[in-house]
Amino acid sequence: MKKTNIILISVAALLTFSGCTQTPNAGEKVTYSKSPKEVYDSSCVKCHGADGAGITEKKAPALNDRQAAELELDLYDVKNGGTNQSSGTEHDVMEHNMKKLLDKGYNYDPKAMAEFIEKSFYKKPE
Ligand code: HEC
Repeated sequence: MKKTNIILISVAALLTFSGCTQTPNAGEKVTYSKSPKEVYDSSCVKCHGADGAGITEKKAPALNDRQAAELELDLYDVKNGGTNQSSGTEHDVMEHNMKKLLDKGYNYDPKAMAEFIEKSFYKKPE
């Protein structure tokens, strides 16, 4: 094989492989294999409870006193790695949990999850 051919092949290979490591564009559509309910029932329920009231031993706060807009902000923070300016909470536990969720394929859309939680659990303060 000619030297120039080998160089051309190497360059082509480099270009192909570097293409694979690119991170997806921010605007790219993600598809979620599980519905928010499926994710909640198989994971979130363990700490936040079947009625979203929270489980004290797990230190998990109630989610039934929040409306979707607020939950959505929290969930974006949780998914994006923890500390945040918007709610001032640290999400160490949740952040850790998120890694496990992703490993299991339980990714979710924060907006859809927030709406699901509000619709299923929200109780108006008395
Ligand atoms: C291992 C137990 C555990 C699991 C599982 C879990 N959470 Fe949490 N969650 C916590 C704890 C503890 C906190 C409070 C501390 C923190 O944010 O890390 C929290 C906080 C939150 C908050 C923020 C509430 C606030 O007061 O700011 C939201 C929203 C939330 N969880 C939703 C979810 C959803 C949705 C899932 C499932 C995808 C989930 N959690 C799974 C333990 C858990």
